[in-house]
Amino acid sequence: MQKIAVCVSGGGTNLQAIIDAVHSGKIHNTQIAVVISNKADAYALERANNAGIPKEYENRSAFGEAMVDALHKYNIDLVVLAGYLVIVPSEMIAAYPNKIINIHPSLIPAHCGMGYYGLKVHESVLACGNKITGATVHFVDEKADHGPIILQKAVEVKNGDTPEILQRRVMEQAEWNILPEAIDLIGAGKVSVQNGIAVVSR
Ligand code: GRF
Repeated sequence: MQKIAVCVSGGGTNLQAIIDAVHSGKIHNTQIAVVISNKADAYALERANNAGIPKEYENRSAFGEAMVDALHKYNIDLVVLAGYLVIVPSEMIAAYPNKIINIHPSLIPAHCGMGYYGLKVHESVLACGNKITGATVHFVDEKADHGPIILQKAVEVKNGDTPEILQRRVMEQAEWNILPEAIDLIGAGKVSVQNGIAVVSR
């Protein structure tokens, strides 16, 4: 049984997609052991509550070691950053090499890195006149939105899109599909990293 920790900061729609995918059997042999947030009022924690999942709230102070302690406490196999807006402490990356994944709402390496989060990503896509965008699931390393890419899914940009409309389409058509799929593939041992490139064997 793969035990995962889901780290959240906001509304938790990606967490909800994972919860639903575990319940529906789309994600096999996986338990959401804990939901961790850096914001005590994140609605994502309400979603965890409703699903009966233990919650941990890590404020910024004792962040690094507290985070690793929480992960060890629950015997976590995989850490999932789902709308998580905190730079991952280096001690956590060292403790979980290629065991931390993140969902980013663009086709990395476009529109990513420091300062590119939430609506800002979609504002950038629209400002550039891109005709496609999408989402990326990747392993987390020391740099923001930089580690080996696991899955990507493209989404059409439509005339008249606002950042909000585009964000919703990217969530519905890409994020909420590829993040559960990546968790399932990793749990089935179908993802490896060779020379810095993630290889997915379906
Ligand atoms: C999503 O667009 C996600 O890609 C980004 O934060 C947004 C909100 O995510 N990282 P959620 O609803 O909190 O899962």
